[in-house]
Amino acid sequence: MKTIDSVLTEKRTFVPPESFVAQALLNREGLDALHKQAQNDPDGFWLSQAQELVWRTPPTQALDDSDYPFVRWFADGQLNITESCLDRHLSTPRRNKAALIWEGEPGEHRVLTYFELHREVCRAANALLKLGIKTGDRVVIYMPMVPELAIAVLACARIGATHSVIFGGFSAEAIRDRVQDAGAIAVLTADGGYRRGKVVPLKHNVDEALKHCQDVRHVVVVNRTGQDVSMHPGRDHFWTDLLKAESGRCEPAIVPAEHPLFILYTSGTTGKPKGVVHTTGGYATQISFTTKYVFDLHDEDTYFCTADVGWVTGHSYIVYGPLMHGASVVMYEGAPDTPHRGRFWEIIDKWGVTIFYTAPTAIRAFMRWGDQHPNAYRMDTLRLLGTVGEPINPAAWVWYHETIGRKRCPIIDTWWQTETGGIMVSPLPGATVTKPGSCTQPLPGIAVEVIHKDGSRCGKNEGGYLVVTRPWPSQLRTVWGDPERYRKTYFGDLKVGGRPVYFTGDGARFDEDGYLWVMGRVDDVLNVAGHRIGTAEVESALVGHPHVAEAAVVGRPDELKGQALVAFVTLRGGLAATDQTANMLKEHVVKEIGAIARPDDIRFTDALPKTRSGKIMRRLLREIATSGRAVGDVTTLEDFAVLQKLSSSDSDEE
Ligand code: WTA
Repeated sequence: MKTIDSVLTEKRTFVPPESFVAQALLNREGLDALHKQAQNDPDGFWLSQAQELVWRTPPTQALDDSDYPFVRWFADGQLNITESCLDRHLSTPRRNKAALIWEGEPGEHRVLTYFELHREVCRAANALLKLGIKTGDRVVIYMPMVPELAIAVLACARIGATHSVIFGGFSAEAIRDRVQDAGAIAVLTADGGYRRGKVVPLKHNVDEALKHCQDVRHVVVVNRTGQDVSMHPGRDHFWTDLLKAESGRCEPAIVPAEHPLFILYTSGTTGKPKGVVHTTGGYATQISFTTKYVFDLHDEDTYFCTADVGWVTGHSYIVYGPLMHGASVVMYEGAPDTPHRGRFWEIIDKWGVTIFYTAPTAIRAFMRWGDQHPNAYRMDTLRLLGTVGEPINPAAWVWYHETIGRKRCPIIDTWWQTETGGIMVSPLPGATVTKPGSCTQPLPGIAVEVIHKDGSRCGKNEGGYLVVTRPWPSQLRTVWGDPERYRKTYFGDLKVGGRPVYFTGDGARFDEDGYLWVMGRVDDVLNVAGHRIGTAEVESALVGHPHVAEAAVVGRPDELKGQALVAFVTLRGGLAATDQTANMLKEHVVKEIGAIARPDDIRFTDALPKTRSGKIMRRLLREIATSGRAVGDVTTLEDFAVLQKLSSSDSDEE
């Protein structure tokens, strides 16, 4: 392949503050020692990390790759993951510590201690057992961000049922597809959920979906909004009715390490959802390891991750990881701008949050809303900030550092995927010098490389395909019901030393210091006049302009250059959407990157089309840039009005 030209040159570096290093679980020497151990003996390294969990039968072996690319980890071990998250704390002073600090969108709150959370999980597990749900059955969970969501996840794990959480923003069709694909026999839901003050009719969506799912025998409904719902006799039960008589103790189902813990659906390049399968022992090991060291998690911490439990971030870094370490986890039900744009900052002050983990798309929204919102709060308890989900542009990184972290808090830019289960590449906050926009270096025990199509390694600052060359414990094990799709999607094309390697789908480069810069999905990499340009880098230049709030760059076929760059831009600060502004921004990109990256078109828009998890839907923008309208699948789009505006403004021009 031709290399991917990298055009982003960010030179600033940030050293961890001394006061942070002094208390950190890992400093530079500690990290070096772990790297050395992992390099010399990866199996021994991961086995020693596995010892941090509660096992009923501790494993004696780590990786088994005899059926590669299908792998097993700790295969002779046996455990129940909820013993590591709950039971282990009950005989310690954490017994009455806050496990979940939940805040509802309308403003109420609930705090569950470890003792209470354990009790509620056991009661729910007993109720599921009474419905006849067994180890190995699949249970779909479709709930708002309420404590019962975490309780439901853990209750499934308690009895060995494989959970599949569907994000509460998905439609009835999406539920139907996932319930059918997973072969689920029960759905745990709620009457409704709050989002920006409105009620989302969750139970109604489930009813619609289940018209086409005859195998679902039970639906359990949490009362959240109190609206009327229709209850299907024999099939539907209210959560409180079911749990009423249940005891607060439930013997955990002890399962082999490779027992499927959960299926999480992610969109692939085709329309059919892809059920990413994670198992128990390896997943738990890597999540435990990364939660402890990447978040430098101490007993005194109050940890707030703004993701939804419907995404992998919520699975790994709201529910499983933080609870394994006895953290106090803040869980917020609603939108960041309800009832006002300072809601997150208010929550941070209210609960004394020390660690805050969010996404670049959210950070850019906060920037656009203005500094007056965070500036109205003290936020002096914060000591660490994190980001995940897409490349963070240096301008947003620096804003996050200054305006939220008040120049005091290290930032961990964590690269990982639904498929990797846990964090793979990230700074260690007490050990790593950070560079804005780089997720820095692979964690100990993680082997990541950037290669050409022929498998040879890319040079310094040479962009290529980001691959993982050695299996890792929290690796997806297969695609549910379709092992061939697993092999083809992830181990299809790229080989190193003749052996297929896991392809992440991302383009990236290592710089002269061995720092990794992820340039976005490879299908977001454009070839403009023979130069391969990561769209994320052009976007980064655009949003670096003080009058640009958000930007998405896509390619449109161009006779001369192969592809032309089209930028969709949201302005801020009262600048008019004129040709003059467009020209100024083009010149700005030229100045930041060079003429090869000059956008051919700049289109101004009030908002960009996004998925419900906040990812910009570049595919739709590509279609609009190319043909004037979006023709493909739009079922994961959050706000249809955005698309209509974009398409109609386009046809106006015609
Ligand atoms: C992107 C979310 C740059 C990347 C946990 C990856 C990132 C995809 C980062 C996975 C980061 C995630 N820097 N890019 N720190 N984190 N990505 O499955 O393209 O929703 O492949 O998992 O998000 O998204 P997913």
